This record gives sequence, C-alpha cells and structure tokens, in this order.
Amino acid sequence: MKAIDAEHYLIEAFLNRADIPDASIYPFNLPIVQHFTTLEFHPKITFIVGENGSGKSTLLEALAIGVGFNAEGGSKNFHFSTMDSHSGLHDFMRLTKGLHRPKDGYFLRAETFYNVASEIERLDEDPTAGPPIKTYYNNKSLHAQSHGESFMTLMEHRFGGKGLYILDEPEAALSPSRQLKLLSLLHKHIKSGSQFIIATHSPIIMGYPDASIFLVTKGGLRATTYEDTEHYQLTKYFLDNRQKVLKELLD
Ligand SMILES: Nc1ncnc2c1ncn2[C@@H]1O[C@H](COP(=O)(O)OP(=O)(O)OP(=O)(O)O)[C@@H](O)[C@H]1O
Ligand SMILES: [Mg+2]
Repeated sequence: MKAIDAEHYLIEAFLNRADIPDASIYPFNLPIVQHFTTLEFHPKITFIVGENGSGKSTLLEALAIGVGFNAEGGSKNFHFSTMDSHSGLHDFMRLTKGLHRPKDGYFLRAETFYNVASEIERLDEDPTAGPPIKTYYNNKSLHAQSHGESFMTLMEHRFGGKGLYILDEPEAALSPSRQLKLLSLLHKHIKSGSQFIIATHSPIIMGYPDASIFLVTKGGLRATTYEDTEHYQLTKYFLDNRQKVLKELLD
C-alpha cells in the first residue's frame, strides 16, 4: 500500500470480491467490477475514462456512497432520493482514507443535477431552516440558470476548497470555452488542497496535466496516458483530417 500523503483524502479503493453473492448480476457482472482489485487515487485528479456503458458511473456512485454522499448527488447534507436505482457495489468496497478529513465535498452527477436543484428549492422554502442554501450558489436558483451556467456556479461559488469532489461528466452541459474555464477552476481548487475524481469523455478536461488517467477496458481498469486515450487520438484525427473522415463516414 502507498505511504499516506496528507493531501490525499481518498487513497485507495479495494473490492472484496470474495464476499460478492452473485457475480452474474448488475453491477457485479460488469468487467470493471469483475477485474477490480485496487484503485490508487491521485492526490489531485483521478480521471476514469471509457466507453459508454463500461461502468464509470457505477464505480463513481459506489465511491461517493462509500464516502458518505447521497447516491443521487449533492453534498453530504443531501438525503433525498427520487428513485432507488443505486447498485450495491459500495457494500463490497473498502476505502482507504488519508489522515485529514476533507472540509468540503460534492458528488456531481450530470444526470440527476436537476433533482439536486429541486431539492435545494424545496429546502429553501422552509424559513426556519437557517440561511438559504442558494446563498452558496451565487444566490440564484439553479433552475433559473441554464444547465451549463448552473454547473459553472457550482464550481465557482459552491465548492469551498480543501474538498473531495466526485464529478460524473462535468462537461455534459459545457461549451468548449467553458470546459477550458473548468480546467482553470479545477487548478484553483487543487491549489487550495482539493482532490477530484472525475469520469469524463472530454479530451479538454482530461488534459489536466497533474493527474492519473484510468481507462475501463474489458480486462478492468488500466492506467493510461493522455496521448494514448482514444478521446485524444480520435478528436485530434478528426480535427486534422475532417474532410477525409467525413468522406469515409458519409460516402
Ligand atoms: N440499475 C441498473 N440495473 C441494471 N443495469 C444497469 C443499471 N445501471 C446501469 N446498468 C448497466 O450497467 C452498465 C454500466 O452503466 P454505467 O452507467 O455505469 O456506464 P458509464 O460508463 O457511466 O456510461 P456512460 O459513459 O454512458 O455514462 C450499462 O450497460 C448499464 O446498462
Ligand atoms: Mg456514466
């Protein structure tokens, strides 16, 4: 096991596969789970990349529940559930945590962020419940902002630093220029001692230099480099050879 680093909030995830009751059902039948032994996190950013349906969200959700987040997203203070669709993977996962506990944290799921916004509005309707939560979101209802604007508000205003942030496809609503802005926000938060675990398809976001990239393959998670990802290679090839690719695809 790696020496404990004070900047790490999450050091390692270990899967106790011997205890899994039925390896033929979801999520235990996914290659990412069947081949999972340990996953060592980078102190700054760990990227999880791979094909649609390869199990990135399933893994992130198990990690998020394991550190105490609501399965549908939000901070540790959110306890709502619109549907109980989370897998039981977290029950079999053991997490090695660092010496210091994060002062902040958030689990962002692009797919259920709308539900988080609704929950904030619901909680803020109670005048006895203390300062409105939307104060932390630039004092504006997330529903009154566009999808991309609300994501940026979250990163710019709600994330407080020294935090553990688990983000599932943060690029989902963002223009390329906002994705570049996201890179600079990630850097700002990392400099103030935060750790990120991010599932992404974005060749811009996974371009952050000081990070580990793990690719989900049929044989499980495999460490890779930025230039070796299909996301980088395909995007670059397309941009460099657009007419040729279009001819091959469309003729
Ligand atoms: N609740 C569920 N019950 C059964 N199968 C599920 C459930 N949730 C997801 N799956 C299946 O597990 C596989 C992995 O899903 P997951 O959402 O983790 O993939 P992903 O890598 O995040 O994909 P994407 O890049 O499209 O977000 C998919 O084939 C999906 O159909
Ligand atoms: Mg996903």
